[in-house]
Amino acid sequence: MDKRIVVTRTVPESAVEVLRGAGTVQVCSQDRPLSVAELHDAVRGAHAVVTMLHDRVDAELVAAAGDQLQVVANVAVGYDNIDVPAVTGRGVTVTNTPGVLVDATADLTLGLLLMVTRRLGEGERLLRAREPWTFHLGFMLGTGLQGKTLGIVGLGDIGQAVARRARAFGMNIAYTGRRRAAAEVEAELDARHLPLDELLRTADVVSLHCPLTEQTRHLIDERALAAMKPTAFLVNTSRGPVVDEQALAKALHDGRIAGAALDVFEREPEVEPALLELDNVVVVPHLGSATVETRTAMAELAARNVAAVLAGAEPITPVR
Ligand code: GLV
Ligand code: GLV
Repeated sequence: MDKRIVVTRTVPESAVEVLRGAGTVQVCSQDRPLSVAELHDAVRGAHAVVTMLHDRVDAELVAAAGDQLQVVANVAVGYDNIDVPAVTGRGVTVTNTPGVLVDATADLTLGLLLMVTRRLGEGERLLRAREPWTFHLGFMLGTGLQGKTLGIVGLGDIGQAVARRARAFGMNIAYTGRRRAAAEVEAELDARHLPLDELLRTADVVSLHCPLTEQTRHLIDERALAAMKPTAFLVNTSRGPVVDEQALAKALHDGRIAGAALDVFEREPEVEPALLELDNVVVVPHLGSATVETRTAMAELAARNVAAVLAGAEPITPVR
């Protein structure tokens, strides 16, 4: 029987090609996320659905698709948009795209780290505003990274790739996480495992690389921000709701931390307006994995997961 594959938003053509080998493909090509009603309508009768991080995947979506649904392939490493127990509990496989976006996300993290510590956004805005300026020794001074401590929250693949890059900049590495990293990883990165409180108190830069879960929602709240050094910076390329955005805006406004660089937001695509008023904040629109190479690899991996499941084989990167 022909399999019906629904893709909720445009993906690179090479991924569509892979999917065409596995069934009849319908790509929703609107230029915005589907509403819940549109999503449920689109997936009716689907054997496979390729989803984006803004698509809510839950028991209602599975019911809307119907009993023939076999797999939901999220084109993202994060899957906080998916109620995994509700979906897998109904016999539907869930997959994500780990691995392929590690370098791109780590690169972006270092980019943000440099932007916020060296005031690059601020400098760019100054020139674009055609403001007068001349070089002088006290002009737009930032903060150096050499010998400073990077505190990584969640030393998974992305956290480790960030740590490697930061070591090349001369930073010391501390980390916190549910689990202790392997001894070889700690040794390679010379990484110290610390409880979150101690990491917050001692790090010069705190960078978030944990998944969004009930345990990490608002992990960085008013209390956590108060624990950070007034000279410290926060970088978030994980998920917006890991940070209490209003508490962050207040901490930045009051000078309780030095700055923040954010790729993700609590109510994406909305950005807390108070953040946009502040010069010590760098904001970019969820670009962590946004390179041609990486987005293509993510979509192809999702497509290969779909093809595997529809062929009765094991998925390549299942979420369990
Ligand atoms: C992007 O944010 C992802 O989870 O892949
Ligand atoms: C999160 O805190 C992790 O251990 O990855």
